[in-house]
Amino acid sequence: MFSKETYVARRRQLKESVGSGILLFLGNQEAPCNFADNGYRFRQDSTFMYYFDQPYAGLNAIIDIDNDREIIFGDELTIDYIVWMGNQPTIHDKAAAVGVGETMPMKALKEYLDEARSKRRAIHYLPPYRNRHYLDLLELLDIKPGQATPSVPFIKAVVEMRNHKTPEEIALIEHACDVTSDMHLEAMRVVRPGMKEYEVLAAVEAVAMANNCYTSFPTIATINGQTLHNFIHSHTIKSGDMFLLDAGAELADCYYCGDMSSTIPADKKFTDRQKAIYGIQVAAHKASVNALRPGIRFEEIYDLSARTTVEGLKALGLMKGDPHEAVAAGAHALFYPTGLGHMMGLDDHDMENLGEVWVGYNGQPKSTQFGRKSLRLARELEPGFVLTIEPGVYFIPELIDLWASQKIHSEFINYDQVNKWRDAGGVRNEENYLITPDGYRRLGKRIPLTTDEVEAMR
Ligand code: GLY
Ligand code: MN
Ligand code: MN
Repeated sequence: MFSKETYVARRRQLKESVGSGILLFLGNQEAPCNFADNGYRFRQDSTFMYYFDQPYAGLNAIIDIDNDREIIFGDELTIDYIVWMGNQPTIHDKAAAVGVGETMPMKALKEYLDEARSKRRAIHYLPPYRNRHYLDLLELLDIKPGQATPSVPFIKAVVEMRNHKTPEEIALIEHACDVTSDMHLEAMRVVRPGMKEYEVLAAVEAVAMANNCYTSFPTIATINGQTLHNFIHSHTIKSGDMFLLDAGAELADCYYCGDMSSTIPADKKFTDRQKAIYGIQVAAHKASVNALRPGIRFEEIYDLSARTTVEGLKALGLMKGDPHEAVAAGAHALFYPTGLGHMMGLDDHDMENLGEVWVGYNGQPKSTQFGRKSLRLARELEPGFVLTIEPGVYFIPELIDLWASQKIHSEFINYDQVNKWRDAGGVRNEENYLITPDGYRRLGKRIPLTTDEVEAMR
């Protein structure tokens, strides 16, 4: 995708950062869905793409730092594969395109690692997240299930590099964000009472496909926005509903992502009640965006978003007391049980497979408090970070009933009043931002955010 020199330079920086040993990269394999020849869409591992740009199944790689060797391992395609699936460059040509000089058949990988282990050399690998990775590690390293020990220096070095997006990466992310904006604009145009949720889903995903994109995660397109990750699409949209869309494009060739949310009235206008909740989300949203800058801890912005939410809920009579104290106690989480946002890049939740504690917390421990524990990003922000802003206001009847029955945080929550709003649903808007040396820049075409702007589109 980028120049050969980009990948050579990335691997050089990685080698210098880890310092010694062997870095083992497990590429992804084809994954069967319901029978072997009916697979899920192939998706290469994002770190493998970042260092080797190989959107092909069946490859692994090593960087032997001490001996200054880089090797891609794989087997040439069989004629049967070529007949059914088409030809590809040879492994040698795939490797040469990114400046990797050596290739070997897959069986040579175990021999290479056996030899390294016999000399007690360090073999670094990243956390496995597919069953196939676990099986490969067991076989390649002769370990038992449960014995995999991912390398912290390797994780930290990759995270440090991938967290800082270069201008050429930002251009691709921005393209994915533009397509993502168009997906949301299309939903704002088409949502009508009487439609099925899946009809809106189809219209939204058609925009992605028409732009050579896939979706960066399973689309949420629902009249039940209070269910945070709602993947059911079979309901009929009724007058008086709010429709929550959380959808993003992933560029087909290189995987860079967008991830945005919008909340749309089924009718041409929001009801007064919907406006009240929506206004709280927008206030928290805007306060968060305005606070973005290098040097601030993202958890501080989360606290600000939570306090702004509490202030709005107090004005509606649903909460009471001091907003600072309410947020410190975790009372806001009845209505705002999610985090504020996450890193975004080659993955929607960028590098979540490497561990949130490294990506979003710089090695610091995470809170276990309900709500705050879902904050994927807390660390100090730096130029080059790309992240989402997505506070929400949710009325989850089961959670309201549970907390009310146990009088949880009743010094901050007016349960009698809350009960009158129990069917109010959920509101989330989500945008994508780049942290710049001076502050921030929104990525992607702007889409309506305030109620006036959304209504003007309807
Ligand atoms: N689409 C999931 C999220 O917003 O994090
Ligand atoms: Mn999202
Ligand atoms: Mn998100």
